[in-house]
Amino acid sequence: MKENLPVTYTDHRLHIEDVSVAELVRSYGTPLYVYSASYFESRLDLYNRGKEGKEDSIQFCYGMKASSNLALLRLVASRGWGADIVSGGELFRCQKAGIDPKKIVFSGVGKTEEEIRYALESEIHLFSVESPSELRTISRIAAEMGKKAPVGIRINPDVDPKTHPYISTGLKENKFGIGHDQALEIYKEAASLPGIQIKAAGFHIGSQLLDFSSYEEAARRLLKLVHEIEAAGISIDEIDVGGGLGIDYLENHDLSQPLETPDPAAFVKQIWQWINESDANASGKKRKITFEPGRSVAGNSGFLITRVLYRKSNEDRQFFICDAAMNDLLRPSLYQAYHRVIPENQSRGSSFGDLVGPVCESGDFLARGRELPDFQEGDIAVLASAGAYGFIMGSNYNTRPRAAEVLVRGNEHSLIRKRETYDQLLENELL
Ligand code: LLP
Repeated sequence: MKENLPVTYTDHRLHIEDVSVAELVRSYGTPLYVYSASYFESRLDLYNRGKEGKEDSIQFCYGMKASSNLALLRLVASRGWGADIVSGGELFRCQKAGIDPKKIVFSGVGKTEEEIRYALESEIHLFSVESPSELRTISRIAAEMGKKAPVGIRINPDVDPKTHPYISTGLKENKFGIGHDQALEIYKEAASLPGIQIKAAGFHIGSQLLDFSSYEEAARRLLKLVHEIEAAGISIDEIDVGGGLGIDYLENHDLSQPLETPDPAAFVKQIWQWINESDANASGKKRKITFEPGRSVAGNSGFLITRVLYRKSNEDRQFFICDAAMNDLLRPSLYQAYHRVIPENQSRGSSFGDLVGPVCESGDFLARGRELPDFQEGDIAVLASAGAYGFIMGSNYNTRPRAAEVLVRGNEHSLIRKRETYDQLLENELL
């Protein structure tokens, strides 16, 4: 499908929605994360379109690890979405943002006893269980509390999603889920445990997946297993297909042209068809489906704005040194990820080099060995597609305060997270 990024040049100056980047920098300083509310909502709406007519049997749980500022979670809640969480902290955020606990799925391989208790008290929708030991722990705690924990087992379908090895999760070599060969046993055990109510089975095969075919394979394998489990007398009413749909990172993309991205509505309909209407659904039973998209909602809504401080070159290389670093956006250093660098001032030409930060690591770069805008000292650079796994993976490395976050809508902008202060950085340290 084609869609437009929420950026334009007016009089050669970059705008996010209708707000000029120069004004944002004047108001909030740099480095700065900026999100387009309209774009973020349009992505939620595209998913919602995929469930038209099936409202009762499709649930969207935003993979909030992608980007979880309370203001963004408010938008998520306003569209009827729940959340996929991976920690007690994320559950706390959901409560503060008004996300309905009945729409929360708790994923992750290492839930602590405190987190399990907190989630049971909050009456969440589902625990996505990743090991027999975790299942027993959940049952014990739930039984102590006089409850039955709603669970689904995350199955590792051993499907290669053909994405970066660090973000592929559905292979045997990955730590996630339970192997097919162990699945029937664990469901039988779950059925015998006092604190467990079996609801679902699921998978999450990886992230940044640009074609749907690996989902088809995973769904086919999972359904086969589900039929075996149901033949053993254990009913499974819901399938959780995880997140993973990819986005266009704008490599070789002409910004004046619309984006070409997988269509979330078509994706949802396709998954529905594979699970509920294809030959793989031998029993003919219609199952509820839960989706956990993160990146495909948040990714292209967000931008990291930074100021170019210095330029320098040696015989090999030209460096643009800016005030954002790997502690602000880790993806280039960690995954060699590509983020499009857009000049605030459209009239800059282009120049080959590296955009690097001030952190004391050679791995601290935001763009390396690339054709970049010919930034002059003091110019503003904008890194695109930074709305997912951007701010959220930031740290205080080198005692650098984390950036401020701002939400833009039309010609309005508001601060949604203050820039950290030096005092805050030391707040918890004791002399
Ligand atoms: N559900 C589960 C169980 C997950 O593990 C994930 C992501 C999601 C949903 C959301 O997936 P998405 O729709 O965002 O692909 N930091 C990496 C990505 C890590 C993804 C981890 N799991 C990156 O920057 O590319």
